[in-house]
Amino acid sequence: MKYFIGNWKMFGIPKSINILNKINSYYLKDKNRKKYRVIITPPYTLLETYSKFFKKKRISIGSQNCYQKDKFSSDTSAISPYMIKKVGAEYTLVGHSDNRKEGDTDLMLKNKVTYALKNNLKVVFCIGENKIQKSKNKTLDVLKKQITKVLNKKLNKNNIIVAYEPIWSIGTGKIPTNKELEKITIHIKKILKGIFQNKSPAVLYGGSVDGNSIKNFKEIKEIDGFLIGGASKSSKKFIDIINNYYR
Ligand code: 13P
Repeated sequence: MKYFIGNWKMFGIPKSINILNKINSYYLKDKNRKKYRVIITPPYTLLETYSKFFKKKRISIGSQNCYQKDKFSSDTSAISPYMIKKVGAEYTLVGHSDNRKEGDTDLMLKNKVTYALKNNLKVVFCIGENKIQKSKNKTLDVLKKQITKVLNKKLNKNNIIVAYEPIWSIGTGKIPTNKELEKITIHIKKILKGIFQNKSPAVLYGGSVDGNSIKNFKEIKEIDGFLIGGASKSSKKFIDIINNYYR
């Protein structure tokens, strides 16, 4: 199964559901649809409406983050995995670099993953090195630490997806070479297999994925899907990615 996940970030109002409707119509007509799943992570404000609307349809809805506590607390503005699940969302991202930048620590991420899984959300756990780490050849070490500090064998691997998003590639148009990306994806899967009894969760790539760059990425068979930012805000651009992947 491949995954095409659209992360809207700070984008979207109720009527932006038109974008999802177009993607959903494409999906329903696509002869390749059994091979992949589409997930969109709109902002919290739209989670309930979109989840209800797409409940019986094929697009799945997820949140972009969750708080590191289970249910209710007195933390102003926080939204827990329980609350996300109760409005009908199926997935949550955890550890996106935008949130790590704002202070998410490994311990916080561990709690987020644990409580999200406890509340039956599927977790898309994001990892990735920054430009300096890359230039110092630290990528493989950084990724290993990010994974092993947060994931452990007690977690339900069937509900975890890992997304590799090099920070220097997000929104920049810069992408790793296929050789680099293949090596990194294999490295990530090896670490995950070490944790989860020789079975790796799906590993996705994210960072400047669009209708053009996908033509390179699709050559790398180890990649199980994509986490798409900018290009997920347009139905045409998002559909182009899927279309070019299977062409
Ligand atoms: P872009 O596709 O805009 O580079 O963003 C990637 C991303 O951060 C998705 O979570």
